[in-house]
Amino acid sequence: MENNFLSLTNVWFKYDKEWVLSDVNLKITRNRIIGVIGPNGGGKTTLLKLIAGLEKPDKGTILFHNQKPGTPETIVRIGYVPQHATVRWTFPIKVSDAILLGKIGQKGKLSTPRKEDKERLSEIAQALNIENLLEKHIADLSGGQQQKIFIARALINRPELLLLDEPETGIDVAAQDLFFATLKDIHRRFDLTIIIVTHDLSVIPKICDEIACVNNTLFHHSSPEEALTCPNFDKHYGSHLEVIIHGKNIPHRLVHEHHDDEENK
Ligand SMILES: Nc1ncnc2c1ncn2[C@@H]1O[C@H](COP(=O)(O)OP(=O)(O)OP(=O)(O)O)[C@@H](O)[C@H]1O
Ligand SMILES: [Mg+2]
Repeated sequence: MENNFLSLTNVWFKYDKEWVLSDVNLKITRNRIIGVIGPNGGGKTTLLKLIAGLEKPDKGTILFHNQKPGTPETIVRIGYVPQHATVRWTFPIKVSDAILLGKIGQKGKLSTPRKEDKERLSEIAQALNIENLLEKHIADLSGGQQQKIFIARALINRPELLLLDEPETGIDVAAQDLFFATLKDIHRRFDLTIIIVTHDLSVIPKICDEIACVNNTLFHHSSPEEALTCPNFDKHYGSHLEVIIHGKNIPHRLVHEHHDDEENK
């Protein structure tokens, strides 16, 4: 079994003076879906940026296939959809061209799409159910459709690891179940490992194999049940939460009002 897929060892990171992440340790094996949860400002986006190689740890080591992220070899193998992904919507191009623009060559630079990229595009479009959008102008998409285009763009390089930062943003509640089922499907179809940051706890038992709770440091749990029923779960989350596991492990979340005097209890 390959266990050098992704590892973070004693990782510390700060933007300014204060540590945003301290002493993070995480080992991920291939083909898993890892849910990352935690309060606002806890460092979830920062964690993904470190794994994507967009930020470098101040201390500690991150290795993806025994290489530091950010090299041309690793960039093509990691697909990253940022929390606030955007393109210049007024730019006059079609959806299919916007997706193909995500193509990065072996040297880590944008490259001209080839025949196999176009084949890959139709494979991705079918998997994400966006075939009917390919000829549209990018400015004519809804928020939920835009999210799928960003995911399609991240998949065009055939990554092994897909990093998604709150991808459910902009997708209406009714469509979210289908959206997460689609993620599960692309995970299987494209042989992906997925790290997904989400605030939607109900998603976790449905699609995630493991959970990481991030609040300045990281608590990693090998199963969603273990994390969601953990007695210290609200402490990890940094908020007063109660999670009730219903049948089929669907959690229901209660968020209690926070009172400062409770801190001293
Ligand atoms: N570019 C930056 N420069 C300085 N500080 C930053 C920068 N980006 C994030 N921070 C700070 O780092 C901390 C962690 O931010 P991060 O965006 O990683 O949190 P998050 O868990 O993703 O939050 P959210 O759930 O709101 O998306 C916050 O205190 C934030 O203010
Ligand atoms: Mg974030």
